[in-house]
Amino acid sequence: MTQLDELDFNTVQIDQHGPIAVLTINRPKALNALNAETLGEIAQAVDMIIEDAEVGVLIITGAGDRAFVAGADIAEFKQVQSVYDGRELALSGQDVMSRIATLPIPVIAAVNGYALGGGLELALACDIRVASTGARLGLPEVTLGLLPGFGGTQRLSRLIGAGRALDLMLTARQVRADEALAMGLVNYVADDALMKAREVAEVILKNAPIALSLVKEAVRRGLDSGLDAGLEIEADMFGLATATKDFQEGVDAFLNKRPAAFQGE
Ligand code: COA
Repeated sequence: MTQLDELDFNTVQIDQHGPIAVLTINRPKALNALNAETLGEIAQAVDMIIEDAEVGVLIITGAGDRAFVAGADIAEFKQVQSVYDGRELALSGQDVMSRIATLPIPVIAAVNGYALGGGLELALACDIRVASTGARLGLPEVTLGLLPGFGGTQRLSRLIGAGRALDLMLTARQVRADEALAMGLVNYVADDALMKAREVAEVILKNAPIALSLVKEAVRRGLDSGLDAGLEIEADMFGLATATKDFQEGVDAFLNKRPAAFQGE
């Protein structure tokens, strides 16, 4: 099988060290803006990562020290000539974000600078967000006569509540890392977002991999359900977890006062 870091992409790069894969959006001259090629390459990379049983956590970041991703590529908006084109553009971006959101492994965004528009939507498709101290986050689409179309109207309001999400989307203002932390938009702030993301990944990797994927699924599917349906999903996921060898291992390790050695089975 092709090693992940041998894949030959133009605008993204994957580096894998053991169970941590880092996907870097690499168009620094355009502040890593997402053009059609980049979206396609992210989708391909994500599909390859799903196939790679070795990868336990994915980190997504941006190349250079200025931007995570400064949005969808505004130059390509010129190609949008009809309602149909616009809808297709949104659907193609949403598809990529949904592939990330439904990955069975935890995904961490290391937001190392501007995360605007499609860049913030990319971060929102991740499970955990780490911002660098100088990061700026926002959804400025209305300044272009647009609205967020890669999942932002839905994921931001689910994450921080409709009131705060509407404030950000209607004013188009950028928030700094400390404000983003206070409103729950990011989970951690650190001088070096990628280094902190790796630390968080190491903590996650101590836990049982199947349980991690079941947590993700329960939260994601539950958010789109009422409480009763969500509780049923949780019970289903809990039942699946109890059928794993890792569950037996975790309980045995606790009772015998030793560290658990999870196999992902
Ligand atoms: N799409 C395409 N190109 C972009 C881009 C985007 N979303 N964001 C930045 N770039 C390009 C700029 O056009 C510029 O290219 P150039 O050097 O060939 O002129 C380069 O990246 C550097 O950006 P610049 O604007 O000169 O940097 P800055 O430090 O003055 O401002 C930002 C940084 C992020 C505030 C500014 O680039 C910006 O507002 N970008 C657009 C953000 C946005 O609206 N995103 C949502 C899109 S839906």
